[in-house]
Amino acid sequence: MPTLPDSGFNRVAPFYDSLARLIYGDALQKAQLHLLPFIPDQSKVLVIGGGSGWLLEQLILTGKQLAVLYLEAAPGMLTRAEAKYKSITQPHACQITFRLGTEAALQPHEHFDCVITPFLLDLFPPKRLQQLMQKLSAALTPEGRWLFADFWPVQQPAPWWQKVLTFGMYTFFGAVSGVEAKKLPDYSRHFQELDFREIATRPFYGGFVQAKVFERVNLSQKT
Ligand SMILES: C[S@@+](CC[C@H](N)C(=O)[O-])C[C@H]1O[C@@H](n2cnc3c(N)ncnc32)[C@H](O)[C@@H]1O
Repeated sequence: MPTLPDSGFNRVAPFYDSLARLIYGDALQKAQLHLLPFIPDQSKVLVIGGGSGWLLEQLILTGKQLAVLYLEAAPGMLTRAEAKYKSITQPHACQITFRLGTEAALQPHEHFDCVITPFLLDLFPPKRLQQLMQKLSAALTPEGRWLFADFWPVQQPAPWWQKVLTFGMYTFFGAVSGVEAKKLPDYSRHFQELDFREIATRPFYGGFVQAKVFERVNLSQKT
């Protein structure tokens, strides 16, 4: 059977969350939680690369009425997210659609008020990242918000311990999950090329992780 594109995290799906928690404690979750207040009520939200579904549960717990497309490339991650969703017993106003695939599975008519990329963009080398981000930009409404959480050292050059962690992650996930990037992207350049401007930011884990909210430049200038 041919391998599904970008599905390498399938191999780590059973233990990814525990591994991330072992190394980073709750910092990666806190970064993602920081983004949730920036989602307007009654939004259409794309979560791409959400993993095993932790974030999905948090979106539901906001109490907002959201239409969420949960797009995940690894079947093992998607299955876990679906199981987590089924285990939520409290009533809520969210409508969740699960889809197996990458950004290529987005339809031209699909548009979102918010796109969330939680620890996704660091996986790709520059050219592929540019294509991926172009696709996501096209799927975002003109007033839409891009909610970003990822490894992005505040301090440049990054301190030694951040370089060690970065090297360790790319070595491990390169070998096990087929991650093609070898170093953290120049996120600023990519967002600028697409005319996005940062409207909020907060560092986590000693400045190694950042949560950021982006809007289109022309929109930020109007407000
Ligand atoms: C580093 S993990 C982060 C998982 C989750 N967001 C978290 O923070 O726990 C990256 C996730 O993105 C998924 N992924 C990788 N490339 C993708 C793509 N092109 N489209 C959708 N999902 C993708 C992987 O399967 C994996 O679940």
